[in-house]
Amino acid sequence: MSTEVSDTQARRAVADIFNATVASHAIGAAWELGALDELGENGKLDAAEFAARNDLHEPAVTGMFTALASVGIVRREGTVVLTGPYFDEVNHTRSLFHWLNQGSGELFRRIPDVLRNEKRVGDFYQRDAAAISFACREISERYFDPAFWSAVEGLGYEPTMAADLGSGSGERLIQIARRFPGVRGLGVEIAPDAITMAEKEVATKGFGDRISFVRGDARDIDAVEARERFADVDLLTCFMMGHDFWPRENAVKTLRDIRAAFPNVRRFLLGDATRTVGIPDRELPVFTLGFEFGHDMMGVYLPTMDEWDGVFEEGGWRCVKKHAIDSLSRSVVFELE
Ligand SMILES: C[S@@+](CC[C@H](N)C(=O)[O-])C[C@H]1O[C@@H](n2cnc3c(N)ncnc32)[C@H](O)[C@@H]1O
Repeated sequence: MSTEVSDTQARRAVADIFNATVASHAIGAAWELGALDELGENGKLDAAEFAARNDLHEPAVTGMFTALASVGIVRREGTVVLTGPYFDEVNHTRSLFHWLNQGSGELFRRIPDVLRNEKRVGDFYQRDAAAISFACREISERYFDPAFWSAVEGLGYEPTMAADLGSGSGERLIQIARRFPGVRGLGVEIAPDAITMAEKEVATKGFGDRISFVRGDARDIDAVEARERFADVDLLTCFMMGHDFWPRENAVKTLRDIRAAFPNVRRFLLGDATRTVGIPDRELPVFTLGFEFGHDMMGVYLPTMDEWDGVFEEGGWRCVKKHAIDSLSRSVVFELE
C-alpha cells in the first residue's frame, strides 16, 4: 500500500490532529462541568441556557462544544447541541481524557524541558493531584470495579479493617464501608490535596467516623505515622499506584515491607495498568500512549504483566487469582495472600 497522501489530505489530517487536541481538553471539561451527563441523559442541551444556568462564560462554552463538534462527539444546530456519532464512546472513556488533560496536562505541556537530562532534577514536573483523584475515581469504577467486586465477593471472610494504599479520592474505602457495615478504613496517601478531597468526600457521604487518612509514602511504609493501626488491618487494597513500587528490586522490598507492616492481612487486592508489549504504533488504543509516555517522562518504571507475575513470591505474597482487564490498556487485579 502506498504511504503517499495528497497535500489536501495531509492538510485535512493535520487540522484534525489540531482539533482533536483541543477537543481532548474539552472532553474532560465538559464532563467536569456536567455537560456530558446532561447530553447522555437527554440527547441534547442548549449551550446558551447551559452556560447561564451554570454561571459559565457563554462564548467559551460555545467554543467547548465547537471543539467537541469538530471531531464528531456532538453536533451543533444553532445553540442546540446534540449527541454525535462518537458521543457514547467518549462519554464512556471521558475520565481517561480528564486524567490526561486536567490531571497530567502540565507534564505534557512541559515535554521539552522534561526530556532534557539537565532539567530532570528536583521537582521537574507537576501534575494536579486533586484532578487525578477526581478522574481516577471514575476510571476505577468503570474499569477496575467488576474485577474488584468479584475479588471482594470471593474473600471468604468479613473484613473488620481495610487499608488502601494511594487512596486518592477515598472512593475505594467508601465502597468497602458500604459493603461491610462493620468495617473501618484507613487510607495511606502521599498527596495532601488528595487527602483534603478524600476527607471532604467521606464526611459528605457520612463515613467520617469510620474512614480516616494519613499522609505517607507506601514505598516507605515503616515511616508512616499511623503504623500502630496497621496490625488491625485484615484487608489491604492498592489500585493504580502499584507501579510506583518498581523497579524490581524496590518492588520486592516494598512488597516485603508491606507484608511485615500489615501482619494480619488476609487478602491484598492489587490492581493496576501494566506496560503493553508489541502494539503497533498506529493501533494503540485509548489511554495506553498517554499512560506509558507520561510515566516514561516522570521516570516511573512501568512493569509488564509478566514482570508483576514474577515478583510476588520473592516479595512474600502468593497470587491466588488474577483478573485481566483488557478494556483499559493491559490492566489487572491480583488477589494476593
Ligand atoms: C492514579 S491515583 C489512584 C487513586 C485511587 N487508588 C483510585 O483507585 O482511584 C494514584 C494515587 O496514589 C497516590 N500515590 C502515588 N504514589 C504514592 C505513594 N508512594 N504512596 C502513597 N500514595 C501514593 C497519588 O497521589 C494518587 O492519589
